[in-house]
Amino acid sequence: MCGIVGAVAHRLVTPVLLEGLKRLEYRGYDSAGIAVLDSTNQLARARAKGKVRGLEEVMQTTPLNGRVGIAHTRWATHGVPSLENAHPHICRDTVAVVHNGIIENHETLRAEQKRKGHNFSSETDTEVIVHEIHDKMTDGGLDLLAAVQATVSILEGAYALGVISTEEPGRLVTARKGSPLVIGVGEREHFIASDIFALLGETQRFIFLEEGDVADMRADSITIYDEDGNKVERPISETKLAADSAEKGSYRHYMEKEIYEQPQAISNTLEGRIINEKVVDESFGPDASAAFDLVKRVQIVACGTSFHAGMVAKYWLESIANLPCDIEVASEYRYRPHIVSEGTLFVTISQSGETADTLAALKEAKNMGYAHTLAICNVPESSIVRESEWALMTRAGPEIGVASTKAFTTQLVALLLLVVALGRRNGLKAEKEAQITRQLINLPAEIEQVLELDQEIKQWAKCFGDKHHALYLGRGEQYPVAMEGALKLKEISYIHAEAYPAGELKHGPLALIDEEMPVVAVAPNNELLEKLKSNLQEVQARGGQLFVFADANAPLDAAPGVKILRVAETDEVVAPIVYTIPLQLLSYHAALIKGTDVDQPRNLAKSVTVE
Ligand code: G6P
Repeated sequence: MCGIVGAVAHRLVTPVLLEGLKRLEYRGYDSAGIAVLDSTNQLARARAKGKVRGLEEVMQTTPLNGRVGIAHTRWATHGVPSLENAHPHICRDTVAVVHNGIIENHETLRAEQKRKGHNFSSETDTEVIVHEIHDKMTDGGLDLLAAVQATVSILEGAYALGVISTEEPGRLVTARKGSPLVIGVGEREHFIASDIFALLGETQRFIFLEEGDVADMRADSITIYDEDGNKVERPISETKLAADSAEKGSYRHYMEKEIYEQPQAISNTLEGRIINEKVVDESFGPDASAAFDLVKRVQIVACGTSFHAGMVAKYWLESIANLPCDIEVASEYRYRPHIVSEGTLFVTISQSGETADTLAALKEAKNMGYAHTLAICNVPESSIVRESEWALMTRAGPEIGVASTKAFTTQLVALLLLVVALGRRNGLKAEKEAQITRQLINLPAEIEQVLELDQEIKQWAKCFGDKHHALYLGRGEQYPVAMEGALKLKEISYIHAEAYPAGELKHGPLALIDEEMPVVAVAPNNELLEKLKSNLQEVQARGGQLFVFADANAPLDAAPGVKILRVAETDEVVAPIVYTIPLQLLSYHAALIKGTDVDQPRNLAKSVTVE
């Protein structure tokens, strides 16, 4: 987490840094800060607790100007969100550092540095980096580049760094390992940032640093060294993304915009991947077709919303593709032994492609005997994509709202493509493949219809505004959909919500039912509907308030304590995707009523690049 941005130019860079921070705020918003070398080559710093707009206010009273600078927006790991812990951190007024990642050996380094006489002004793990660089320059006589290289060689953990020093004005040194960082290449000016969106207003040309790289940047040059200190060339890639591709437009929140973008995002994800009602194998990688013939089992690993997408995929893989599938959250998977069966495909799912636990699990898996690795991801240049043998990009476009919406539904679409491609090798009939691909092609239109329920869902949301708890129920592949709905409500409205497979209700949660506990149920017209109806009656009989999203034809009737909203009739296979939409809208409207910060809910961040 945390976002970093930096610039070295012939012009004043503070506006670039501030704009970059605003675009990176989704990565954390506990504090923000900027440091520049001013016209007298002194370090000038501004910091503020909370969001970037607080920093802007500080800078209105004390403006900062300089041609080289670094900036940071924080998601607290070591030390509370406070002014003292806000980056940039400075040592003896000569070196300033911004850092994203976690330094695992910070306690050892801190003890040594204290012995050498350094006073610590923060509780962060980052502060040891700036003291170390300072000492290597002053005591060791190294220049800024060599001091950064020497410092990163003793760091354990993950870092993306931006470093400037009064001793070497006009120089910005950057380094990365385990945390994301890109270099933006301009005309006689260069930038760094945690992702490309931060810099789209300045350049479309980017260099993606490899693990362990250190770059020496000046306005007119960039020199990159690998982990062993060898000079290396890294290619410049040009993005087609427009500068405004991550802007809110006329929507009130990014989340609202992203919910409404789902039909288009799904069309984009499908484009070129279905031809003549067949999934194109090459979508997964040039050699995937032959390799898929040998896949006998699938292991999925992911976190958060992406994990819920994986759970739906497990149902699909076992029922449609006739393949066994295991799924586990990455933070658990990476810390226990596994028995890997022959022919197992290892699949990671990640919107950002940077989630530390998922990335670490993938790295482990590569040495564990899996047949192949495949990433379902939304960011082509991300670490997870680069670490994977194959990748299927979800093409959702930038997702800025912390609560994932369009990334989830496009992940489901991508996973269904995978299920069909694998299923074809395991007895899935051509007619069934044609039927599923037709359902996928129709999905954007179906979702447009569901989005029209917005106003009715807004009315329902009023019943949630004063509640502290909610229960979500689903059966079969709608159970993970219910889990995702509950997660959305928790994340943005801070209402405690739990999801249960409806049949489990009688084994505990029924004890919680009263008129203060709204119960949301997803009820498509499938073979489990009758079972679900009995579960709902159990709730109704105990005075619970039911909010049921049901198929147009589902034989369910509204009654006292039972509200029903009819979702357009949908095909069973794609139903998990369709039923996700009303749950997103419900949580969005509940959050509006509660007046929370929808796009940046408290304590969370979009991209979790720490363990
Ligand atoms: C964070 C985000 C979630 C996301 C999860 C996994 O918790 O707030 O929205 O689902 O990380 O992220 P990934 O980028 O790997 O999908």
